[in-house]
Amino acid sequence: MNLLDPNLADEVICTCSGTKRGEIAELFAQDKDMDAISRWTGAISGCGGCEWDIADMLKALAEAEGKAG
Ligand code: FES
Repeated sequence: MNLLDPNLADEVICTCSGTKRGEIAELFAQDKDMDAISRWTGAISGCGGCEWDIADMLKALAEAEGKAG
């Protein structure tokens, strides 16, 4: 699965806060790290079950940026 597929932007990645993949990508583009993203969205501050999904997504975003740059 391509975590960065634009078709997945509306997929909720954190069910506790309702944070979507697209929101994570937007905040990453604003140079927000995982802590900042958590504070802004409330993701990872509930059950914590989304932490690895979000970490994987941030890693994929960073890799994509590395390739593009
Ligand atoms: S699913 Fe993200 S904190 Fe519970």
